[in-house]
This record gives sequence, structure tokens and C-alpha cells, in this order.
Amino acid sequence: MTSQVLNASTSQLFQPSPLVEVRASGVHGRGVYATQPIAKGTRIIEYTGTRILWEDVPENLDDPRTFLFGLDNGKDVIDPEIGGNESRWINHSCDPNCEAIEEDDERIFIDALRDLQPGEELFYDYQLEVDEPITSEVKEESRCCCGASNCRGTMLETK
Ligand SMILES: C[S@@+](CC[C@H](N)C(=O)[O-])C[C@H]1O[C@@H](n2cnc3c(N)ncnc32)[C@H](O)[C@@H]1O
Ligand SMILES: [Zn+2]
Repeated sequence: MTSQVLNASTSQLFQPSPLVEVRASGVHGRGVYATQPIAKGTRIIEYTGTRILWEDVPENLDDPRTFLFGLDNGKDVIDPEIGGNESRWINHSCDPNCEAIEEDDERIFIDALRDLQPGEELFYDYQLEVDEPITSEVKEESRCCCGASNCRGTMLETK
């Protein structure tokens, strides 16, 4: 297995962010909330964890598509189980207030898409991609409950 803990010793963003906290979400389970005003464009937190190959992901892992962050190279994922931070609890919305940006082919950052108020839950669009037929089971597993007026009903990428 190839693995590498990302930015564990050097990155400030690996530390707990004073900008956010984790608590129960109205959308699903736990979510991440702004603790103070956050201006549009702010780099809020890094999605840290251990970089591993998709092919090394255990097949029986729960929710592998949503807890593991797939990198653009299509081969690697960031697993927040080791070295992860609050970002692992950010929920999906079809009308997100944050976006996930990949930099240097290996690091993922969560940036504010608009001004956020204290107490607002953070969301980004998971845009999940699957390399299997989109069966009703896959659709059900990926059903979206974000409640946005433009909710597409799924956390899958549909474009
Ligand atoms: C990375 S976790 C986010 C943290 C999650 N709320 C928890 O407490 O475990 C991703 C999982 O949260 C759930 N989730 C996130 N956003 C959702 C949404 N908009 N609708 C339904 N479920 C969502 C799904 O079960 C998804 O597999
Ligand atoms: Zn939705």
C-alpha cells in the first residue's frame, strides 16, 4: 500500500481551525459550522489525511466515496482516518457556500464561495463520480437531503 500523511508537521491548516466547529447537523449527522464571520474567498481549512491509492481502499469500507476525497489524477484519495481534521465532517449541498480546490496535485482546500455568518453550516458540492453503472441502489446510497431549491436529489455528479 502507498501512503503518505499529508502536511502533518508543516501546515497551519492541519491544526484545528478557529473559524469552524463540528456539531450536529440538520442535514445529516455531524456538520461543520462557522464560529465567526468568514469573508468570501477565505481559505477555511485543508482536507487533511493520508494519501492512499483507490485500489488499496478496503472494499468493505463504509461510504468510501464520501469520506475519501478523490484527487483529480483519478488514482489517489485522501483518507481522513489518519491525520484528518474537522473538514471530514463537512456535508454536501447542491447550493454550496464553499468549494473544494485541489492544489499542487495533492492538497485539497475548502474555500468560502460567499460571505458566511457565524452559525452557518458549511457545505461543498461533493460531485461524486462513480465508475459503475448508476443503479437504483447507487442512487439511493447517494440521495441528497440538502433541502436547497435547486437540489438535484443526489450527491452524484450529473453533468
Ligand atoms: C464526509 S461525511 C459528512 C459527515 C456526516 N454528516 C457524518 O456525520 O458522518 C459524508 C456523509 O454524510 C452524509 N451526507 C452529507 N451530505 C449529505 C446530504 N446533503 N444529504 C444526505 N446525506 C448527506 C452522507 O451519508 C455521506 O456519505
Ligand atoms: Zn441537494
